[in-house]
Amino acid sequence: MTPTKGIVLAGGSGTRLYPMTAAFSKQLQPVYDKPMIYYPLSTLLMAGIADILIISTPHDTPVFQRLLGDGSRLGISITYAVQDEPRGIADAFRVGRDFLGTSPVCLILGDNIFYGKLDFLREAIASNVGATIFGYPVTDPERYGVVEIDAAGTVVSIEEKPPSPRSDLAIPGLYVYGPDVVDIAASLTPGKRGELEITDVHRVYLDQGRLSVRQLGRGIAWLDTGTPDSMLDAGVFIHAIEKRQGLKIGCLEEVAWRQGFLDREGFRAAVTALPKGDYRRYCERLLERS
Ligand code: G1P
Repeated sequence: MTPTKGIVLAGGSGTRLYPMTAAFSKQLQPVYDKPMIYYPLSTLLMAGIADILIISTPHDTPVFQRLLGDGSRLGISITYAVQDEPRGIADAFRVGRDFLGTSPVCLILGDNIFYGKLDFLREAIASNVGATIFGYPVTDPERYGVVEIDAAGTVVSIEEKPPSPRSDLAIPGLYVYGPDVVDIAASLTPGKRGELEITDVHRVYLDQGRLSVRQLGRGIAWLDTGTPDSMLDAGVFIHAIEKRQGLKIGCLEEVAWRQGFLDREGFRAAVTALPKGDYRRYCERLLERS
């Protein structure tokens, strides 16, 4: 089976976070003790994905490159592509066409944070036929893509930010597709917002009877960081868990090691390259205890 590749979409203008985003993008902002993109990136790593494309704006791509490099220090490959204008989530498959080739793909939005047992993602990747999306109950579904399912768990409808949602299941910014997503995205025309809507991609799969949804519930935290409030909530959440357990969430060096992308020596080398401070001390403690 061709290994699944990963895309982190870290574009967009971040206007809802202005003036925080006046100088640099939302996905570079801190969420408690790390840049936001560390969290979605670690989600892909935890799903076993080691070949990742980061898509961002012309202005921010060099900053992401400075932050993350080519991934070799983590034992993975990170490449970059520029989206010159915010043309929608589905545009990621046009920008990422050469990178993807004929590989299946897991796309995560650079402002989506997941916490908990991520087996659901590995399972979705292993069993995907067509496209797999997730449904997560929220109190404010009108802010998101919304999926309606019947008693058998089959998708009945999907809508983007509906004023009167038909269910409370929001669609997180984490999606799994077969290689044909590239052609489906290429066939779309921009929607009302002038963007290539990810919901339109899902409608094509739905019409073909090839869209699966997996419900996520208790035991998984899905946090988004699209507004100052939700960003603060996410930071407080990460802080509370890290402080209580003494374990970091989204520490890329640790995740790369635990996933086997780095062996012990590789992890040691990555830690040695870190500047002195709490983050490095945390990694050093992991080494001492292993
Ligand atoms: C996007 C998607 C939406 C999804 C959300 C998850 O919304 O369009 O379907 O539920 O991400 O974060 P946006 O962040 O562009 O408002």
